Amino acid sequence: MKFFVDTADVDAIRELNDLGMVDGVTTNPSLILKSGRDILEVTKEICSFVKGPVSAEVVALEASEMIAEGRKLAAIAPNIAVKVPLTWDGLKTCKVLSSEGFMVNVTLCFSANQALIAAKAGATFISPFIGRLDDINLDGLDLIGDIRTIYDNYDFKTQILAASIRSANHVKDCALIGADVITAPPAVIKSLASHVLTDKGLEQFLKDWAKTGQKIL
Ligand code: E4P
Repeated sequence: MKFFVDTADVDAIRELNDLGMVDGVTTNPSLILKSGRDILEVTKEICSFVKGPVSAEVVALEASEMIAEGRKLAAIAPNIAVKVPLTWDGLKTCKVLSSEGFMVNVTLCFSANQALIAAKAGATFISPFIGRLDDINLDGLDLIGDIRTIYDNYDFKTQILAASIRSANHVKDCALIGADVITAPPAVIKSLASHVLTDKGLEQFLKDWAKTGQKIL
């Protein structure tokens, strides 16, 4: 399973990238706002050191404008994935841009049928939002499972990019279900290394070590 980082915070991406943990990056208008940076400038900087797909999202609502925005974003670097919302105009944009050879990430997916139609429109990635479904008492992971089954039934090549990941358990469950990619905030990716028994065990080892009076260096 590939790891994408869901942020436009360049320092946070660099830290994970140096550890080889970054297979790609996703951004959205809210994350650009949070970064306080210009979208073209920050996206270019991210693409200068991340080798995998970097998603940059269009903000127009009408297809011809979305296509123009998508082409401009795609011109930033060859590894840009143009992110479009799962609307009818977004699907038209997906079809045009993917036919032109650009990667397209269809975002804001909340149903299996939306994922099906995005695959038909040539999406490179489909982004189902787990956390936001959980927020309204629906099961985001069920959706990932349904999409996995549908895509496998018909051998669709669209990659399932599980998004709106809020916890380490979401990551584990996506891996068990067989999502192709997860995109998660840096803090969630870092939390995968944590376990309370690791902390407790280390504390005890260090206490006992101190009693030996020994040093390694
Ligand atoms: C995905 O591409 C989105 O940027 C993101 O995962 C949304 O997550 P949120 O629901 O936590 O805002």
